Amino acid sequence: MSNVLLIGNGAREHVIAEAIRKSRPARLFSYMKGNNPGIASLSEDVIIGSYNDLEAIKNFAQTNQCDFAVIGPEDPLNNGIVDYLTDAAIPAVGPTKSLARLETSKSFTRNLLKKYGIPGNPIFQTFTSLDGIEPFLDQLQGIVIKPDGLTGGKGVMVQGDHFQSKAEALNHCRDILQGHASVAVEEKLEGEEFSLQCLCDGKTVVGTPPAQDHKRRFVDDKGPNTGGMGSYSCEDHLLPFLKSRDVADALTITKKVAEAIHRETGKYYKGIMYGGFMVTKDGVKLIEYNARFGDPEAMNILPLLKTDFCDICRAVIDGTLDQLNVEFEKKATVCKYLVPAGYGLPADHPDARSTSAKIEIGDVGDARLYYASVDQRADGLYMTTSRAIGVVGIADTLQEAEKIAQNAVAAVKGPVDYRPDVGTDALINQRIQHMQTIRGA
Ligand code: AMP
Ligand code: GLY
Repeated sequence: MSNVLLIGNGAREHVIAEAIRKSRPARLFSYMKGNNPGIASLSEDVIIGSYNDLEAIKNFAQTNQCDFAVIGPEDPLNNGIVDYLTDAAIPAVGPTKSLARLETSKSFTRNLLKKYGIPGNPIFQTFTSLDGIEPFLDQLQGIVIKPDGLTGGKGVMVQGDHFQSKAEALNHCRDILQGHASVAVEEKLEGEEFSLQCLCDGKTVVGTPPAQDHKRRFVDDKGPNTGGMGSYSCEDHLLPFLKSRDVADALTITKKVAEAIHRETGKYYKGIMYGGFMVTKDGVKLIEYNARFGDPEAMNILPLLKTDFCDICRAVIDGTLDQLNVEFEKKATVCKYLVPAGYGLPADHPDARSTSAKIEIGDVGDARLYYASVDQRADGLYMTTSRAIGVVGIADTLQEAEKIAQNAVAAVKGPVDYRPDVGTDALINQRIQHMQTIRGA
């Protein structure tokens, strides 16, 4: 019997909680920022608190004699929760604050690839002042600007989408430098993105089935970037626009990065290395790493796990992943996120309105349902300002999985919105055609 501490309160953590409970006898203790009814129903005990309150998290883990911890979101990693728990002899699946720089510092990761000769970087430079930015912008065909720090996936500015001219680019850099120590300026890459979530014990890196997220708020990839509106994965553990070579290249990059982290810091990275990659005409490029599972992409892979999740956690912690056969069912998955209708819109947008509305969930059929940012009150279930519920269809084909997810969406009543196009043939054919144009086929 393992006692497991889970930190986090989103749909990603709901599916992690499910994976923990499906493992050989495990008791789950959950530390959440808000009351997720799905996680609560799977937990022996829960506590609601801030992710900054490391002492409260440690006390909760000690009181419940937790054997190890699984850290869902990036904020507690950035706060150093793993260092804190490790000092209290509670090991964790998740990197220390220093190694979480893989996600929290764009410059750390880009410079690591550069220093160790690992392929995958676009042309890039980081700046701590405006000095030199203008001539660098002149060298780029297309520009991407990123604050060097955690921004919840929403701080990146892409030329053509968020701004047009070099003068605007320079202004954005100026603005970013007022709130951040540095700004990363990169060449704009063209291609299709995919997520490769890998398990890492510091020495061995194990890939999981690739998935594709949909960051834009609206149908046809229109509107602002969000945390992710939905995602899919395929029964052959590839994606329709990918070659197996692309996935192999992304895995090779990640293995080299894990090795480079050890050479650079002398420490073993234990946790999730979730690479956001883009296939371009010049092969696979790295957009960013996250030090945690993806949200929604965790919902594409964890329900397919055939291997005991707690065994995986132990192997990550003990450095014995090379001895474990990690297997996933050969099924397709489609996840659609239900969000408050005003989600992701700028405050001055006419449709951005109060979002804490009540919702009701009917019969979701064969779909899995994972709670995200909801508030269970005495009189019912309420949304907050963020993504509310993830529904996941799992089937032998993408078409069937999409239908299951789509039927479940219709069972949720209230002022919700979602992207009906996630996982549909029409959107996937666009992806395939886009990639054919890019590859010049
Ligand atoms: P990130 O927060 O780094 O994942 O960036 C958010 C989104 O911005 C990514 O999912 C991409 O769509 C886009 N993006 C980031 N970097 C680049 C790049 N160098 N070229 C093109 N698009 C990018
Ligand atoms: N799916 C995007 C993220 O988890 O960051």
